[in-house]
Amino acid sequence: MDKLLVTGGSELEGDIYTSGSKNSALPILAATLLTRDRCVIRRVPDLSDTNYMVQILAALGAHVERASGTVEVEAEKVISEAPYELVRKMRASICVMGPLLARTGVANVSLPGGCVIGDRPVDLHLRGLEQLGADIKVEGGSIYVKAQDGMGDREINMRGKHGSTVLGTDNLMMAAVLTKGTTVIEGAAMEPEVKDLAHFLKAMGAKIEGAGTRRIVIEGVKELQGAEHTVIPDRIEAGTFIIAGAIAGKRLTVKRCNPAHMTAFLKSLTDSGYPVEVTSDSVTVSRAASPRGGDIRTEPYPGFPTDMQAQFTALYANVPGISVITETIFPQRFMHAPELNRMGAKITLEGPTAIITGVDHLTGAPVMASDLRASAALVLAGLMAKGETAVNRLYHIDRGYENIDEKLIMVGAKMRRVRE
Ligand code: EPZ
Repeated sequence: MDKLLVTGGSELEGDIYTSGSKNSALPILAATLLTRDRCVIRRVPDLSDTNYMVQILAALGAHVERASGTVEVEAEKVISEAPYELVRKMRASICVMGPLLARTGVANVSLPGGCVIGDRPVDLHLRGLEQLGADIKVEGGSIYVKAQDGMGDREINMRGKHGSTVLGTDNLMMAAVLTKGTTVIEGAAMEPEVKDLAHFLKAMGAKIEGAGTRRIVIEGVKELQGAEHTVIPDRIEAGTFIIAGAIAGKRLTVKRCNPAHMTAFLKSLTDSGYPVEVTSDSVTVSRAASPRGGDIRTEPYPGFPTDMQAQFTALYANVPGISVITETIFPQRFMHAPELNRMGAKITLEGPTAIITGVDHLTGAPVMASDLRASAALVLAGLMAKGETAVNRLYHIDRGYENIDEKLIMVGAKMRRVRE
């Protein structure tokens, strides 16, 4: 298993480039199953998660070609059973359920397991499909969905106790685009990645209004055509690099990103005293002369994103005063806290809330990566720690960050990947 040796103290300067969004590419790749025609998806990041999705599409019968960020898919014939061996490796594979149901009338997908950030139920996906009129059966660890006569012309409620569901909204949108009549999705997720999926579906001929708002209205059509699409920039990768600039930046410019997708956490950053310059496709950030702690609550978009919580926890570890971060989406998502404390941070957890008392400095140590964003937070902590930090189990990071070490080294970070 690879590990990353990070030597703290170097200054980051220059331009760092954002890749295409993982969380947009995954449902959009799944959506190519909705047509027998050829689709071309550009700026698909080269990650283990997108590799799994490409393998799942091929296992479902699609012809898939991938070359330097562009994926071509031709799903002339599609089987309706997603391969357990691949599905179990990535929770996001649940988003093939909607397209399989829409295309073949049946979907058989294994129940995704939980993961380190907490329980990952799919009850809202299944409730939504039931409200659409499909027949749902769960047995032997698998979900069986079957289209019924009279499906469609329904109003669906996607709200859950933690707010809306991103992949649940994606699944329902993809199930509804080929379902006759009008489908209204209430309590839809508003994330930019949901809007990007709708953009691609409309390019295929789908009739969708309101994507990006809480209420999406879909007019079913008979079939969809092939389309080409360029995935939006990854706002969480960009946000992670922006925090790297706040931690160790002389003047670090994150390019090819969309600041309009990052308003909540950019506000938290400026509220904490970090100088941020924004253009239409870049953010420039530097260390703060006198940073202040913050008080953050994660919320569904457009609120502060849960996927940026670990990175801010690392940032606040070194900021004078007391910062408070409350995690309302995944209340257990603090695997990074004990690892940061091993580096000298002072983080106490009270249920879904982390109380962070800023310390003078962190000290490098061997740490264990766990979930994707917690691992990124450990790399960020290594940038500011005295000495060397060894981030083990790097495969967690490679799931969601394209060449993170190469990109950071190019702007001055001192780190090297050790293949074990
Ligand atoms: C997406 O996951 C993202 N993944 C996650 O990013 C992100 O953290 C999450 O949205 C929240 O923004 C992808 O897009 C591939 P949810 P998703 O359904 O759709 C509860 C990363 O780091 N819930 O919006 O699976 C759920 O437990 C990953 O890139 C139900 O209760 O998340 C959570 O508390 C991690 N029942 C809340 O809703 C359901 O049926 C939001 O989950 C579904 C979800």
